[in-house]
Amino acid sequence: MIDESLLRRLPKAELHCHLEGAVPAETAIMLARRNGVRLPTYDAQQLYRFADLPQFLTVYRAVCASIVTAADFAEVAYAAQADAAIAANLRYRELFVNPTNHPDLPYPRLLAGVLDGLRAAQVDHGVIGRLIPAINREQSASVAGDLVEAVIAHRVDEVVGIGLDHNDVLGPPVKFAGVYARARAAGLRRTAHAGEIAQARQVTESIEVLGCERIDHGYAIIDDPVALAHALASGVHFATCWSTCAWFHPDRIGVASPIVAMAAAGLPLSINSDDPPMFGTDIGREYHGAATAFGWTLDDAQRAALTVLDAAWIDDTERRQLVDEFRRETTDLGASTAELDIAE
Ligand code: ADE
Ligand code: ZN
Repeated sequence: MIDESLLRRLPKAELHCHLEGAVPAETAIMLARRNGVRLPTYDAQQLYRFADLPQFLTVYRAVCASIVTAADFAEVAYAAQADAAIAANLRYRELFVNPTNHPDLPYPRLLAGVLDGLRAAQVDHGVIGRLIPAINREQSASVAGDLVEAVIAHRVDEVVGIGLDHNDVLGPPVKFAGVYARARAAGLRRTAHAGEIAQARQVTESIEVLGCERIDHGYAIIDDPVALAHALASGVHFATCWSTCAWFHPDRIGVASPIVAMAAAGLPLSINSDDPPMFGTDIGREYHGAATAFGWTLDDAQRAALTVLDAAWIDDTERRQLVDEFRRETTDLGASTAELDIAE
């Protein structure tokens, strides 16, 4: 089995991490105090305690409420990127952000703050940050429509697409068909959380009705042969999350994880950290969990890290540069790159 410290040094990219979910409990409490926002507890050991997805999302929304100003966003975006770069050699990350969970901060100001943080982290720590504004599916289609219009009106290169998150049982994909069609027409890439705790049908609908190119989570697919065959034929990529999958599916952990079954079925997938400090993890730990269950060698782990770049929403020049850097660095770690054929 590969040593966790070696895995941490492997250069990595991730496609599924929520900015507000990447705020350590201590920082959330500091921001809440600074902004006069009420939290359920001010004890950092207690704040990130929950039993299921709805309870988790209640805590997540309280943390969102604590992030109030553009400067707050710059601070948390910088720290999230710096932490992952330092602890686990993260080099590229697409981050979700939920602008409609911050209704008092106009989207252009929120965006300016996040971009300040992402750009500074890239300069200081060499980690590229891209942004995916995510629709809170528990809110109305009209709120989602306004968000997408704001994203289109304030278009910047770092904002690469749109996402759909919160409780998949409470917001079916069809509710956002018009909003996704508008995003697609404006040239935005599209992903959606689906089949995290809801049924596999939501994965199929996200591909067919929303035109998604990636699916976040998607674990239910493994129990539905028709949806699985459809997903395989579509070529859609699954941005899975090792720890949150285990958390919300405690009966299927380790080698019994749906992620292991999804890989065995041939679905293209990546390993991601979702909401790292809220679940006591980071991208290094996610790779270690997956490596242990999959029985990865260092070459296997490198292959997994490189294939993430195939599904990243970056231009091909940048992708090739990252592939070259990943290969060079991983060879120094002792992996062979001979048989790899990624993104060429
Ligand atoms: N928002 C942040 N993390 C999430 C998750 N795991 N599922 C749905 N929405 C989320
Ligand atoms: Zn997520």
